[in-house]
Amino acid sequence: MSEQASIFDTVYDRTETDSQKWQKYEGKDILPMWVADMDFHAPEVVLDALHERIDHGIFGYARPEPSCTEAVIEMLEREYGWKVEAEWLVWLPGLVVGLNVASRAFCQPNESVLTTTPIYPPFIFAPKFQKRAVVKAPMGLDGDRYVIDWDALEAAITPDTKVFFFCNPHNPCARVFERQELEKVVEFCERHDLLCCSDEIHCELLLDGRKHIPLATVSEKAAERIFTFIAPSKTYNLAGLGCSIAIIPDKELRQRFTMAARGIVAEVNNLGYTACEAAYRYAGDWRDQLQRYLAGNRDFIHDFVKREIPDIGLYQHEATYLSWMDVSRLELSDPVGHFESHGIGLSDGAFFDSKKHVRLNFGCPRSTLEEGLRRLKAGVDALK
Ligand SMILES: Cc1ncc(COP(=O)(O)O)c(C=O)c1O
Repeated sequence: MSEQASIFDTVYDRTETDSQKWQKYEGKDILPMWVADMDFHAPEVVLDALHERIDHGIFGYARPEPSCTEAVIEMLEREYGWKVEAEWLVWLPGLVVGLNVASRAFCQPNESVLTTTPIYPPFIFAPKFQKRAVVKAPMGLDGDRYVIDWDALEAAITPDTKVFFFCNPHNPCARVFERQELEKVVEFCERHDLLCCSDEIHCELLLDGRKHIPLATVSEKAAERIFTFIAPSKTYNLAGLGCSIAIIPDKELRQRFTMAARGIVAEVNNLGYTACEAAYRYAGDWRDQLQRYLAGNRDFIHDFVKREIPDIGLYQHEATYLSWMDVSRLELSDPVGHFESHGIGLSDGAFFDSKKHVRLNFGCPRSTLEEGLRRLKAGVDALK
């Protein structure tokens, strides 16, 4: 049965469009499937809003319009039943910036940040850049599904640990944590008197109809120690516009955070605010279509890998367009270099704290994905 054509099937040439993802392999026949942006146009409603804003022609110092703040607040209530106050929002040009600011704000140089591994690399690098220690607890596995290993967390924490950097949906493990697990996270943070950064940037990229639960909604009391990171950038493919949000309900924590950012962190630009408002107000249908397309890509990968390259291990994949692949059976000293030599550019698991893995970005048209997987298979077949 042939599938209906989708807007996401269109292949765009991204060379010479200041794309990090495509510049990395410029002039080489290597398909870039690494850094987490997608090869899709942003939603038409967002592009229309941006065109209108550009036509105004003036791009002075920016501050969000009340309508932009309202769009975020309304989206959080509509999607998650979370009632957020306008003053809780701290606008940031990126969440990597947020992770660095949080490390400075909530940890002293002799104190540490706790996180689970594998993890999105800035969870490890941001504290280190800010000269704070990182303590790491490996995730556990329940069959092919990553789970939090509570014993490992308890073992990793030290008396100097002040903040838990938590990622939900999880990059790269592609888990969407369930209420019970979130309740345990809150209980763990309360018991150890930890603040918790809940990075929920991927919260609109849930597959198979799953529903995201913001950690801060799990218990009213919990909100005092949790700050949440969100952004329209991953879902609506706006990362280059640099518009992200920290939601910090507690006034004192918010002040510490904004003081640590003062004079260092640039403001969000005009176009970022415009795109953010349009995405959260008008792009819900587009997002739903995207989720279905991505689920199709995820299924395509799982079918292909199981059938054609069973030496690569996959996990239950519940969210994001990032596939975490176990390549340990291939016994490669440099998996990324090996696959580059077969024409596919992947993210190196070593940066996520696992040399046994690579990460493949499938936020691309199905035809690009098919070609990428063909190259992945060629790389594995060449070892036989
Ligand atoms: C969990 C997580 N947090 C933050 C970011 C980056 O956010 P930003 O582009 O706003 O710095 C990413 C990007 O992939 C991510 O996966």
